[in-house]
Amino acid sequence: MHRLLQRQIKRFLKDAPLQSEEFATFLDAVSEAYNQSDSDLGTVERSLVLMSNELNEANSGLRNELAEHKKTEQALLKEKEELRILINKLEETKNQLMQSEKMASIGQLAAGVAHEINNPIGYVYSNLGTLEKYLQDTFELLAIYEQAENAITDDEVRTKLTSSKARLDIVFLKEDLPSLMIESKEGITRVKKIVQNLKDFSHLDTTDQWNYSNLHIGIDSTLNIVNNEIKYKANVIKNYGDIPEVECLSSQLNQVFMNLLVNAAHAIETQGTITISTGKSNDEVWVEISDTGKGIAPEHMQKIFDPFFTTKPVGKGTGLGLSLSYSIIAKHNGRFEVRSKLGEGTSFRVWLPVKHVQENSQPTQGSAKTKT
Ligand SMILES: Nc1ncnc2c1ncn2[C@@H]1O[C@H](COP(=O)(O)OP(=O)(O)OP(=O)(O)O)[C@@H](O)[C@H]1O
Ligand SMILES: [Mg+2]
Repeated sequence: MHRLLQRQIKRFLKDAPLQSEEFATFLDAVSEAYNQSDSDLGTVERSLVLMSNELNEANSGLRNELAEHKKTEQALLKEKEELRILINKLEETKNQLMQSEKMASIGQLAAGVAHEINNPIGYVYSNLGTLEKYLQDTFELLAIYEQAENAITDDEVRTKLTSSKARLDIVFLKEDLPSLMIESKEGITRVKKIVQNLKDFSHLDTTDQWNYSNLHIGIDSTLNIVNNEIKYKANVIKNYGDIPEVECLSSQLNQVFMNLLVNAAHAIETQGTITISTGKSNDEVWVEISDTGKGIAPEHMQKIFDPFFTTKPVGKGTGLGLSLSYSIIAKHNGRFEVRSKLGEGTSFRVWLPVKHVQENSQPTQGSAKTKT
C-alpha cells in the first residue's frame, strides 16, 4: 500500500480492522492511484529537470554567443579606431608632402628671384648713396650761386633766374629732396631685407656650423634683441624645463625664436602675456612660445607657413617669417605644432631632435592644428 495512504488510514481509522473486502479493493485502487500519481510526478519532475537543463544549456549558449558578439564588436571598434588613426596619419602625411613640395618649388623660385634682384638692388642702393652726395654738392654750389645773385648786374639774366627759380620751385625742392632720399633708402632697405630673406629661405646659409648648444641661452639673447618690440605689449613668462644641449645651427634657431616672438607680440593688440616653455620627451626637446593674442582664423591655419602669406598691413609684414622658420626647422629634422583659438591666443611648439641626423633635409612634419 502507498505510504501516504497507509498514514492516512492509520490517522483516521486507527488500528480498526478493515471493514470489508470491497473496501480493501477500494483501498488497493486508491493506493494504485497514489502510486500512479507518484510515478507521473516523477516523470514530470524528470522532464522538468531535463527542460531546466536544456534551458540552462541554451542560456549559457546564448551567453557565450553574446560574449562572442561583444568581442567581435570590440574588435570592430578597435579596427575602426585604427582606421581612423591611419586616415588621420595619411591626411597629415599628404599635407606634409604637399607642404614640402610647395616649399621645394617655392624655394627654387625664391632662389631665382633673389638671385636676379640681388644685383640691381645692390647697385640701386649704392647709387642712392652716391646720388645723395652729388645732390648735396649741387645744392652747395646752388647756395653759392644764390649768394652771388646780387652781384649780377644784367637785368635780363636776373629776371630769367628769378622766374626759373619760381617755376622750378627750388625752395620746395630743397625741402623735399632729403625726405625723398630717406624714403627711397628705406624702400630699398626693405627690398634688400626681403631678398636676403628669400636667399636665406632657399639655401639657408651653408657656412653655419652644427654645434651642441644651450637653447635657453639662445632664447634669452633673442629676447634681448626683440625686447623693444615686446616690452610695451607683453609680460614674458619663462617656464624653462631641464633640457639637454641640442645639436643645431644655433643662429638659425635664434632666427626662428625671433620670428615666433615678434609674431606673438604683433598678435597682442594692447596688453598680454607671452609664455616661453621648454621640455623634452625621449630624444627630442621642444620649445613653445604661447601668446594671449588675437589667434589665427581656422581658414588661415593651412597658409601661415606659405611664403608671403600675411594678414598684416602692407609694409608691416612680408609674410616670410614663418616660411623661413619652417625651412630652418625642417633642416633640423624637427617639426612645428600650432594650436590657436580665435580671440584667446596661439602657441607654436617647435620639436627638435637632440642629435642631428645627417643629410636629411626633408621636413618630418609641419602639422598645423586648430583647436576649436
Ligand atoms: N602668434 C600669432 N598669432 C596670430 N597670428 C599669427 C601668429 N603668428 C603668425 N600669425 C599669422 O601668420 C601670418 C604669417 O606669419 P609670418 O611670420 O610668416 O609673416 P608676418 O609676420 O606677417 O610677416 P614677417 O614675419 O615676414 O614680417 C601672420 O601674418 C599672421 O596672420
Ligand atoms: Mg612674422
